[in-house]
Amino acid sequence: MRVPGQTTVVEYEAFGDAEVLQMRTRDLPRPGPREVTVEVISSGLSHIDGFIRSGSETEWDEEWPRRSGSDFAGVVVARGAEVAGFAVGSDVIGHVSSGAHATYLNVSDRVLVPKPREVTWETAGGLYLAGATALGTLDELRIGAGDTIVVSAAAGGVGSIEAQLAKHRGARVIGTCGERNFDYLRQLGITPVKYGDGLEERIRRAAGRPVTAMIDNFGKDGRDLAAALDVPPHRYRSSDDRRMLELRLLQGDPEAVAFGTDLLVRVTELARLHAFTLLISGLYPLTDIAEAYADLARLHARGKIVVATHPVTTFRTLKARDVHEAS
Ligand SMILES: NC(=O)c1ccc[n+]([C@@H]2O[C@H](COP(=O)([O-])OP(=O)(O)OC[C@H]3O[C@@H](n4cnc5c(N)ncnc54)[C@H](OP(=O)(O)O)[C@@H]3O)[C@@H](O)[C@H]2O)c1
Repeated sequence: MRVPGQTTVVEYEAFGDAEVLQMRTRDLPRPGPREVTVEVISSGLSHIDGFIRSGSETEWDEEWPRRSGSDFAGVVVARGAEVAGFAVGSDVIGHVSSGAHATYLNVSDRVLVPKPREVTWETAGGLYLAGATALGTLDELRIGAGDTIVVSAAAGGVGSIEAQLAKHRGARVIGTCGERNFDYLRQLGITPVKYGDGLEERIRRAAGRPVTAMIDNFGKDGRDLAAALDVPPHRYRSSDDRRMLELRLLQGDPEAVAFGTDLLVRVTELARLHAFTLLISGLYPLTDIAEAYADLARLHARGKIVVATHPVTTFRTLKARDVHEAS
């Protein structure tokens, strides 16, 4: 397998919107003893990347220039002498604090999980941050059979995984979304409820029983709504709680890395078992990363937006949501 001496990375040197992102060629050293070199195939986009890049995420500290992206899937092309698994040629899924939006990466073997055949490249590349956040949140709330849970933005990257995994655990799930996503959520066995004025009453009607837990992904339908629905405070997670979990999942210290990899192992296995399906809302060439972020910022993704290093075609197809928004 060809081992490159260089990689193309997505870097930025100042806070700003996605236009500050630049593709740069950088030397890629041989992997260290406990490292592997991964040829990245696909890599997800997350809002928190955008919050860090724009400077609105004030708790993030990193040297400049900074790099973009935390989730990736790819193929091992080289490995250090002390790496036991992950032979050259292995398909892997992994995570980094930043810099996943690249063609090649040197990473510790501790951030990797084998990619099952059953999980597509597109899904694998977008699995880490959304999947670990969703699973971590359901774990914290101890969601299980007997629960009736409300998940906001239930068709989005994180919400769609939370909603499906809550259902997989036996809970009854009510998901907030726009009308465009009603059929999608219904097909998953999730009761869709339109967000906006009158939401409390619509949830009560849809639930027909006490709501026992609630996750606010969107940052709008929050604590007041949970209180009005008599959700016990310890069974409510706010958008800010989610933000704190995501920041933890992006840390590079050994404890945080182990926490993230453990969640990634479980999420990958749940994806392999089809306990949830992660839809790909847009697949962009890595070179069009600014366009991919602009799509994410429109806040109507159904599942994840992912960039690919080897897109079969750069031709843009019209998405159902584009048609919906145009009408
Ligand atoms: N507080 C934080 O630090 C923090 C951290 C991460 C994420 N977030 C926010 O959480 C949201 C979801 O995260 P994600 O990663 O799953 O993003 P995402 O994939 O971009 O979520 C898109 C989903 O949001 C739904 N949505 C749009 N407007 C909504 C509204 N007013 N109420 C409820 N849902 C709405 C959309 O549904 P329709 O297309 O049906 O309208 C779409 O399916 C994002 O808006 C993101 O900015 C906040």
